Amino acid sequence: MVNEEHVAKDEEAGILKMLTIEPGTDLLAAEVRRMAIQTLEGGGLIYLPKGGFELSERERVLISDTANILTRVPDVENGKPTIIFDPESGHIKKYHYAQIQGKMMRAQIKDTARPDLEAIMARYGQWTESIIAQLFPSYQQALDRKRVTYRPFPRNSTQALHIDSSYGYPTQGRSMLRVFTNINPVNRLRIWQLGEPFEPFVQRFLPDVKVSGPSWLSILLARIGLIDGVKTKYDQYIAALRALGMRDKEYQVSAPRELMEFPAGSSWIAITDLVLHGAISGQHSLDQTFYLPVEAMNDPSRSPLRILERLIGEALV
Ligand SMILES: [Fe+2]
Repeated sequence: MVNEEHVAKDEEAGILKMLTIEPGTDLLAAEVRRMAIQTLEGGGLIYLPKGGFELSERERVLISDTANILTRVPDVENGKPTIIFDPESGHIKKYHYAQIQGKMMRAQIKDTARPDLEAIMARYGQWTESIIAQLFPSYQQALDRKRVTYRPFPRNSTQALHIDSSYGYPTQGRSMLRVFTNINPVNRLRIWQLGEPFEPFVQRFLPDVKVSGPSWLSILLARIGLIDGVKTKYDQYIAALRALGMRDKEYQVSAPRELMEFPAGSSWIAITDLVLHGAISGQHSLDQTFYLPVEAMNDPSRSPLRILERLIGEALV
């Protein structure tokens, strides 16, 4: 029931490894767990065509018209702004802004829809926790469950290939393990592009990275609680590599990639600061971000932190 396929890419590009876990597979089986951890830590993607997270009929009707849940719709279809749910408080963050054509915008949620959206997002977070507990029992104790993101707006413009960095939420060397689900109520696909492995990407852009260690400003912002902890050199390197890659037009045109289609009802899991990715199209997805300490990994040497430290030759946290 498990299908370990190596999606062949062109010779220099290397290989994107994908593990498909068919519906009905026993996630507790030792072989399934072994393959899942191998794939995830190796910079691959775990794909669950029918992951099992579902909306009720009422919830589906509610989100099927964004006018039911939001007071206005942006004119640019780049999937923003997103809605962020904080599992610690049990509520949607009120002041989460995104920059859209130079303007700062946030999703204005209707009061009538807020309890339902919060219930969906809370339930989603719990569901991802149960998937993690089944597939990656060795991670469970060490994982820090962070935000849930809901993307109610359509994306019809390709997002540049990138690794995730988390401005405002420094990981301080931990990896970002994310569980995504396409909850589109009318079966629209979510389409992604997936790029080359982490190491060749880093080698290409590393010579242009300039970092200076934590700035007095980030220390100050962390101290007064505006950002969630001080940015380490690791956070700075990841942010710089991400920005250099996204800005490089030549790279964005010529970099190797695979397209991946995620139907409604499917879920996928990846370490997103290790896997180059970019959304192309889709509407209505949920994802849960966990921070994964490298020591909790089966093979810490495959973490973005340890790969970067090896290539740079110094400790980054
Ligand atoms: Fe991303």
